[in-house]
Order: sequence, then structure tokens, then C-alpha cells
Amino acid sequence: MAKKKLKPMTTETSVDASRVEVRKSGIHDTGCFAACDIRKGERVIEYVGPLLSKAESLNQCESGNVYVFTLNDKHDINGNVEWNPARFINHSCEPNCESENDDEHIWILAIKDIKAGEELTYNYGFDLEEYKDYPCNCGAASCVGYMVAVEYFDHARKYRELQRQTAAEVTA
Ligand SMILES: C[S@@+](CC[C@H](N)C(=O)[O-])C[C@H]1O[C@@H](n2cnc3c(N)ncnc32)[C@H](O)[C@@H]1O
Ligand SMILES: [Zn+2]
Repeated sequence: MAKKKLKPMTTETSVDASRVEVRKSGIHDTGCFAACDIRKGERVIEYVGPLLSKAESLNQCESGNVYVFTLNDKHDINGNVEWNPARFINHSCEPNCESENDDEHIWILAIKDIKAGEELTYNYGFDLEEYKDYPCNCGAASCVGYMVAVEYFDHARKYRELQRQTAAEVTA
């Protein structure tokens, strides 16, 4: 059977990767770093890749593709392509970027002034159903221990405390 052709990427022509560099990260494996000073409010890079239907997206996620990004009600983006350096941006509980989604494009936006060489991060925004499967190694002073959306920080802190108490009781 002929291989199904991937749908065109959302925005290949607009990918400007000049402001980022990809290298080893202290947070996890490979990370994405600022190649120059970036000011708060500036778009750093677009998150690009072929469009996936929701069914294709589910399939990819179930197969372990961690680079799938929600785009809109109909499509997600498969960021697992070499022309998408933004796929290497790690999560942080104290991020310097956030994602901006206008239903057709996903931009990574600086939410702080960023110095050249700093690792770029955003909050992945995992919800109550998923965050416990994603321990966080961001190293921020305020790290809540899981890659979870800000609105669930208190929940994650309480959950982490409970886990610590249980572990302490087991070893006592
Ligand atoms: C989109 S990738 C980010 C790039 C990744 N470092 C790599 O080398 O492919 C997402 C995956 O990176 C890892 N990751 C990202 N941020 C993390 C963090 N703060 N703590 C632990 N693992 C993290 C998790 O395994 C997550 O599923
Ligand atoms: Zn963290």
C-alpha cells in the first residue's frame, strides 16, 4: 500500500531559527537556547510541522511522539521534524516563554527579557489527569515537581508532600 503523504506543514516559509540554538540541556536531554538577547514580548520562533487530524494525533501520542502540539479543534502539529528546532524547548515551572496559538500558528513568545545563552522554556500546561506521569526537573526555585499548568500548582505541591510523607513512613 502506498504510504500516506503527510499534509503540508503549517508554515515552512516563516521558520526563522536564527534566534535559537539547540544543544545539551541540564533540564532534559536536548534543549533550545537563546542565540541572542531577546526582549519580553517578542516572538522567538514558530512551532511548526505537518498538520495531524485529531485521530492521527492520538495515534502519534499513543506511539510515544512527545512533539505533538495542539493547534485548534481540528488539527494538531507534528513537531517531530528536523526543521522544527522549537521541538527541543523544555518545560519549566518558572518559564521565560509561553506559547501563543491563533488557531493557525503556534508562536513561542518571550515573557521575560532573555539573555543570549539562556535556555528557552515554557510551561507545557499538563492538567490534573496527566501531570503525575510527568515529573519535572526544571531546577527552578519554585519547581512544583511536576510539569503541570500553573492553575494546578497547589494541587501538585500537596500531592508531592503526600508522596514524601508516604515515602518517609515506608522507610521509618
Ligand atoms: C518536546 S520534548 C522537549 C525536548 C527534549 N528535551 C528532547 O531532547 O527531545 C518533551 C519531553 O522532554 C522532557 N522534558 C521536557 N521538560 C522537562 C522537565 N522540565 N523535566 C523533565 N523532563 C522534561 C520530557 O520527557 C518531555 O516528554
Ligand atoms: Zn519544575
